[in-house]
Order: sequence, then structure tokens, then C-alpha cells
Amino acid sequence: MSTTSNLFTGQRVVVMGGSSGIGEAAATTFAADGAEVVITGRDRERLDAALERIGGRTAEQSRATEPGKVAGHQVDAADPAAVAAFFAEVGTVDHLVVAVSGAAGSGPFAGLDLADLAAGFDAKFWPQVRVLQAALPHLRADGSVTLITAASARSAFPGTAGLAAINGALEAMVPPLAVELAPLRINAVSPGVIDTPWWDRVPAEQRAALFEGLAATTPAGRVGRAEDVAQAIHLLAANTFMTGMVLDCTGGANLPTGR
Ligand SMILES: NC(=O)c1ccc[n+]([C@@H]2O[C@H](COP(=O)([O-])OP(=O)(O)OC[C@H]3O[C@@H](n4cnc5c(N)ncnc54)[C@H](OP(=O)(O)O)[C@@H]3O)[C@@H](O)[C@H]2O)c1
Repeated sequence: MSTTSNLFTGQRVVVMGGSSGIGEAAATTFAADGAEVVITGRDRERLDAALERIGGRTAEQSRATEPGKVAGHQVDAADPAAVAAFFAEVGTVDHLVVAVSGAAGSGPFAGLDLADLAAGFDAKFWPQVRVLQAALPHLRADGSVTLITAASARSAFPGTAGLAAINGALEAMVPPLAVELAPLRINAVSPGVIDTPWWDRVPAEQRAALFEGLAATTPAGRVGRAEDVAQAIHLLAANTFMTGMVLDCTGGANLPTGR
């Protein structure tokens, strides 16, 4: 996506989980629109590689935050002390995107290991909630927060009850938080299947077959790209009349068909 409006010039955007996939695409979009962008992730090498892709600069050049540039901080969103220290250091945040991921907690319910489900909450639900709470004192009063949930929150595919619980819990928080924390705007983007490195855990051949099958049953005729979701995130951050919203970005894959 090319955005040339410079709508975000002079604004700081923090993307937690910005070194890959959806978070990286969001960071790229905001940077192209003039923002000073700070991305976080746990792995330094992944962060440095993302900084070079996003900003076209070496990791060393990117370590210093400059307006209109991208910086990277190594932060584990599951570590409360690290999250608090990060926000204390980063300064005022105009827009926050929380794209940290997890994969645990899926599978047929009868055999679902509840420790695995708890691990799924630890990897996604608690980090997103923790980051939002820790960021509050540092967020511009009328800035925005965009959480990334998942279509599994409201779909009904067998084997996704655990993911529905994790993402549904996050989505349920959005409307009350939007009222409680106003004028700060709180939204979420709920993606369908998006071709990102998240799927690297599935062997390539199996992944290609899965994506092909999904594309055939998706009104948009394809699985999503990280840039599709980045556009939805950008919209929610930019539009000051949108809050309390969970915006689906699924290519229509989650539309009820009555079947
Ligand atoms: N891809 C899909 O099909 C899809 C569908 C629906 C929803 N989603 C959701 O979209 C969000 C982004 O997913 P993605 O596909 O872009 O995944 P991804 O490519 O795996 O990227 C995840 C990013 O989050 C970072 N991260 C993960 N855990 C973290 C932690 N504890 N602390 C800090 N950073 C952390 C990763 O870096 P490090 O590993 O280096 O920390 C990476 O930058 C996730 O919430 C995911 O559940 C994805």
C-alpha cells in the first residue's frame, strides 16, 4: 500500500509485535504516512531485519528514534517489568497497535489440554491486556489503540473453541473500554486467514493446500495479505469518529451463509 497523505506526521505510533507479519505491515504503512514508528518484538535479529525492510536503513541507524523514522525495541509483552520500562522510556504515544501473537490453545475440545489453552491466553490475551494497561499513562488522551484479535472469536469451525475464547475475550473488552477510556479510542481489527510468517509452523505444501482451499470458499477469492490488515488498522487509527469497533478483515470468509 502506498500512503502519501502524511496524516501521521508528528505522531508517534507504537506497534507491539511489529517485527513480522501484520504488525510489520502496519508499521510500514504508518511510516509511509509520516509517523515516527516504534516497533517491538522479543527477538533482536527479527527486529533488526524488520527495521531494515521498513525503514530502508541499517539496524544501527534505526536504533535512534527520529521523526518519520522507525526504531525497534526488544520487549517481551509477556514480561510486565519489560513492558513498563519500555513505556517509561518511549515517551508520549499517539497511537498504539498490539499485534503480539500466540498459537497455543487450538484443537478438538474433547482432547484440549487446558494447560495449552492457558498458554494461549498467556501468549495473546494477557500480553494485549497488559500492554494496553501499561500504555495508558503514556497515551495521548485522544489517541487510539488498535488490538488485533481473530475471526475465530465469532466463527464456528470445529477445533477453534480455545482460540474463540482467547480472541472473543479481547473483542468483548473493546466496547466497554471505548466508553470507559474516552476520549482515547479503542478498536480492534479481526483478521481472517492472513499469509504471514505465523503460518510458517505449517509445512509449506500443507499450507499451500490449506490456503488454496480457503481461497476457493472466500468471497474475495484469496487469503489475506498483511497489507490488507494494515490498511484496516490505519483506518481505525486515522478516523477520529470510530471507537468501540471490531472491524472484520476477512475477505468475507466469516459471512454467514446459512449452510
Ligand atoms: N496470520 C493470520 O492468519 C492471523 C489470523 C487472525 C489473527 N491473527 C493475529 O494477528 C496478530 C499478528 O499475527 P501475525 O500473523 O502477524 O504473526 P507473526 O507474523 O508471527 O508476527 C507476530 C509478531 O509479534 C511478535 N511477538 C509475539 N509474541 C510477542 C511477545 N510476547 N512480546 C513481543 N512481541 C511478540 C513477534 O516477534 P517475536 O516472535 O520476535 O517476539 C512478531 O513481531 C496476532 O495477534 C495473531 O493472532 C493472525
